[in-house]
Amino acid sequence: MIRGTLLSLSLASALVILACGPSGGEESGQPLQSEAPTVEVTATPTEVSLPQVDGPVDGADVSNTQLVALGEILYQQYCASCHGAELEGQANWKIRDENGFLPAPPHDETGHTWHHPDEQLFEITKIGTEAYVGSGYRSNMIGFGDQLDDTEIWAVLAYIKSQWPARTQRAQPK
Ligand code: HEC
Repeated sequence: MIRGTLLSLSLASALVILACGPSGGEESGQPLQSEAPTVEVTATPTEVSLPQVDGPVDGADVSNTQLVALGEILYQQYCASCHGAELEGQANWKIRDENGFLPAPPHDETGHTWHHPDEQLFEITKIGTEAYVGSGYRSNMIGFGDQLDDTEIWAVLAYIKSQWPARTQRAQPK
């Protein structure tokens, strides 16, 4: 089958060359093609494959390199637009805007992410700050529960924590 396809393709290109006539080649200054065209069949992946994480995940384990690697990709995809590619947060993040919304705080050690235990960070990320705080509090921090599964949320948090210096990791309440 493959042989047949190659053959008919080279036949087709030979016909095209013939149809152009010898003058076509002279005019363009290009030598006439003599080699059969090579046909490459490559599968196009529909999406980038994410790093594999083995075993059940039930926490933001910074020592799990697979989890941290997955989290870095997801962080850049889902969080970096607001919290910054370097976890630096938005400018003047302590000052509410004219509509009363807080900008996104940094997730590095200069912010207050590390003031919260893992379980709280998980809840905030999963359901969003409005639902987490309640009482009609308004916030631009949406919940990611419908876009990220629990393992993926733990992965993002593991990545964030992996960027903290050891003393900040130790200072985080458990
Ligand atoms: C559309 C912008 C936006 C995106 C995207 C976003 N956040 Fe936020 N995030 C915020 C804002 C704004 C706040 C502050 C909310 C407030 O306190 O009112 C916040 C706060 C937080 C907090 C609380 C931090 C603290 O110190 O209190 C956590 C945790 C958090 N975000 C995690 C994430 C994670 C993880 C992602 C990606 C999965 C993410 N955010 C994506 C805007 C965003």
